[in-house]
Amino acid sequence: MNAAWGGKCGKTRIALNIGAGHMTTENIRRKKAFTVSFATKDTVVISDYFGVESGKNADKIAKSGVHVRKSAFVDASVIEEYPVTLECRLAELQELDGEARVVGEVVNMSADSTVLDENGKIDAGKLQPVSYDAVAKKYRLVGEIVGNAFSDGKALK
Ligand SMILES: Cc1cc2nc3c(=O)[nH]c(=O)nc-3n(C[C@H](O)[C@H](O)[C@H](O)COP(=O)(O)O)c2cc1C
Repeated sequence: MNAAWGGKCGKTRIALNIGAGHMTTENIRRKKAFTVSFATKDTVVISDYFGVESGKNADKIAKSGVHVRKSAFVDASVIEEYPVTLECRLAELQELDGEARVVGEVVNMSADSTVLDENGKIDAGKLQPVSYDAVAKKYRLVGEIVGNAFSDGKALK
C-alpha cells in the first residue's frame, strides 16, 4: 500500500497510521513484520498504484511488474525497484475506531549503492524522495536545502 501518514518513533522505530481493513494491515497482523520503502521521483507511478488498488482485489506485484525478494531479516518482501527499504519487526499494534497504529522496530535498512554518498550514507539528492501534498493531491520532490538543522536556530539563542 501507499502510506503518507507515518514517521520516526523513537531511535529505532517507525510508526504508521493505516486503516484497519487494508490488506496490508491484515498481512502485518499475520506476519508480525513489514517493509517500508521510500517513494521516489522514478517510482511515483508504482507508488501511486499501490495506493489506488487493494491487494484484496488484484495481484499488485504482477500488475505493477515490480520484482520482489524475501527480506533476510523479517518475514516480508522487499520491492527491488525502490532504492531504500526499511525492514521492520512489528513492535506494537494499536487499533481504534477502524484505524491501526503500527509501530515497527527497524531491524535492517537496505539501500542501493546508487543513492549513497562517499561515506556510505543516504544522499537525498541522489535518492530524490517525494512527499505527498494532501491539499493539492500531488507528489512533490523533496530536495532543495534551505537551512542547517540543529544549527541555524542557535542564532536566536
Ligand atoms: C498518496 C496516498 C497516500 C495514502 N496514505 C495512506 C495512509 O497513510 N494510511 C492509509 O490507511 N491509507 C493510505 N492510502 C490509501 C491506501 O494506500 C489504499 O487504500 C490501498 O489501496 C490499500 O492497499 P491494500 O488493501 O493492498 O493494503 C494512501 C493512498 C495514497 C494514493
